[in-house]
Formats: sequence, structure tokens, C-alpha cells
Amino acid sequence: MYRFARAAIFKLDPEHAHDLIIKNLSRFTDTLLDVFYRQDLPLRPVQVMGLHFKNPVGLAAGLDKNGECIDAFRVMGFGFVEVGTVTPRPQSGNDKPRLFRVLPAEGIINRMGFNNAGVDALVANVKKTKYEGIVGINIGKNKDTLLANGKNDYLICMEKVYNTADYIAINISSPNTSGLRAMQYGEALDDLLHSLKVRQNELAQDSGKYVPLALKIAPDMIEDELIQVADALIRHNIDGVIATNTTLDRSLVKGMPYAQEQGGLSGRPVQNRSTEVIRRLYQELNGKLPIIGVGGIDSVIAAKEKIMAGAVLIQVCSGFIYHGPKLVKSIVNNI
Ligand SMILES: Cc1cc2nc3c(=O)[nH]c(=O)nc-3n(C[C@H](O)[C@H](O)[C@H](O)COP(=O)(O)O)c2cc1C
Repeated sequence: MYRFARAAIFKLDPEHAHDLIIKNLSRFTDTLLDVFYRQDLPLRPVQVMGLHFKNPVGLAAGLDKNGECIDAFRVMGFGFVEVGTVTPRPQSGNDKPRLFRVLPAEGIINRMGFNNAGVDALVANVKKTKYEGIVGINIGKNKDTLLANGKNDYLICMEKVYNTADYIAINISSPNTSGLRAMQYGEALDDLLHSLKVRQNELAQDSGKYVPLALKIAPDMIEDELIQVADALIRHNIDGVIATNTTLDRSLVKGMPYAQEQGGLSGRPVQNRSTEVIRRLYQELNGKLPIIGVGGIDSVIAAKEKIMAGAVLIQVCSGFIYHGPKLVKSIVNNI
């Protein structure tokens, strides 16, 4: 079914297609029309970061930036949904075009630049959902906030989403906000994680609810950098790590259409790299915190590779664009 829909969808400009789908999914869900994507999947319960997931397959951040379609993803059978990245103030993102399909490699290049309706709008949307599963909220910084003040944007978002999120993902690994990835290293990382942890403890005391924090990292780190990140995650008692975001590397798509477009590359070309990062992280973390594996999962085998490398939860994004809801069904049925 999705194969036919995809043929039509892929005739459209990628961002236009995405907007159209998001708009219609929220209209169709819980009407007779959702029969085309409603899936009843078996329970594969897992307990991670103190949370109960009905299955380990989640939607990665970026497809539902404003939390408009959470119920549609519930109907498709996802075990959890991560919405965002959201920033304190609404922003329009980079100039269009900013989303490209690298068809021969089943890749996507995006330089969206955190286009989103702002944290208040996202929280209002999440509150409206009937979904009883896990919703993660992925937070970032506004483009016009100086990097030196970036930490404040994360603290603002964290406070605003705290009572609504089941977990909070800290995105410092998008390649599309200038300088953001610098926060993944050294003192900047220590300072950010320390401040977030202090505030998390205060919020947990005030609200009586502990909301775990997961750091989302890039695949483009050398081994030493990865070891340092793992060390910081352990020292600051961070609850989880999401590996990985998109890559800047183009070696696997050389010569293909759109391969030279700026932005982050995702899908099959990042699959092995992200699995390697997970494997190395797993050795370093030694089970001290869980890994959420993401990057190029497009089949049951690719999902199993992430789990074998050390991930306890997985997320799909580009593979979902290329293969549709049946990807979720086949993974949940076979892991
Ligand atoms: C169009 C698009 C938008 C994305 N936006 C975000 C985002 O806002 N925040 C984020 O943390 N990751 C974002 N990502 C990265 C994905 O969540 C994921 O980490 C990455 O694409 C690797 O997974 P994949 O190969 O399954 O796509 C985006 C990816 C794509 C393709």
C-alpha cells in the first residue's frame, strides 16, 4: 500500500510532501480513513530510564517538530514518539529548498534549521494527545541566541516541557544551527550537563516527578571525542544517550543527485557509522546508561544490528519516509 502512496508522494517536492502528510495525518487519525495506516502490533514491553515502553521502536525527532501528529503515530503502533526539536521562540528555519532525497542511497539531506512553532505551541499540542505511550520532547536553541547563551535556551525549554514530557532529549548535534555541535565537547558540555542536571533535580523535587534527560549526539566524532562524551555522561548522571543524529560525511553518496547539498545526511548512508558509534559507546558506558539507537534503520536486520551493538531502544526516521508504517510493524514483529 505504502509503495503506491510513496510513488505519488515522491513526485512532490520533499518538504511540500512532508507538510501535506503531517496535515492530513492529524485530520484522518481516529476516523475511518486511518484504516490505511492503523496497525495492531504485539506488545514487546521494555523498561528503560525508569519508563515503560510498550515496544522498543520509536519515531525519531524531526518528523513531527510541533507535536501535531502524535495520535497518528500511536495508531501506527510506535512504542514511543519523540517530537521537536523545539526552541524557546518560534523560528522559520533556513531558506527553502532545505530538504532533499538522495534516492539511489535511500538517503535524505536536510538543513531545516530547527523550523518550529516554539515550545509553548508544542506543549499545547502534546497536552491534547490521547496517546498514553511515551512522548519524548527534543529541545534546542534558537538560531539568534548567541552560542555563549545557548545553555539558557535549553534551560528555558526544559522548564516549559518538564511536566508534559516523559523524557527530554537534549539536541546539541544538529549540523544546521551554526556552532551548535561545539557544545558536545570539553567545558561547554560539562557546563551544559551540570546546569541541566541541577535544574532537573529542582524540578523533580517541585513536581514530584522525575523526567529523564537523554543527550543526542552526532556520528561525526573521532574516538577520543566519543570517549570524552561517554565520560561526561557518566559523571553528570545523564539518564540516556541518543546515537546518532545526521552526518556531514558524503563519502557514501559521492556523485549522487543532491549529494553536494549542505546539511545533515541520514538514512542508509549513516547506518554503519551510527552502529559503530553505538558499539563504541556501549563499551565505554559499560551499561551505566542506556543507548537509544538511531541512524539508517530501514529493515529488521538493521534494527537488530543496532540492538546487537548495544541499543535498548531504537528510532526510525529516514527509513520510515522510504518504507512507511510497515517498517515499524516488521521490526516489532521480528525483534
Ligand atoms: C528531515 C529531517 C529532520 C530532522 N530534524 C531533526 C530535529 O529537529 N532534531 C533532531 O534531534 N534530529 C532531527 N533529525 C535527525 C533524526 O532524528 C535522526 O537522528 C537521523 O536522521 C538519523 O536517523 P535516520 O537515518 O533514521 O533518519 C532530522 C532528520 C531528518 C531526515
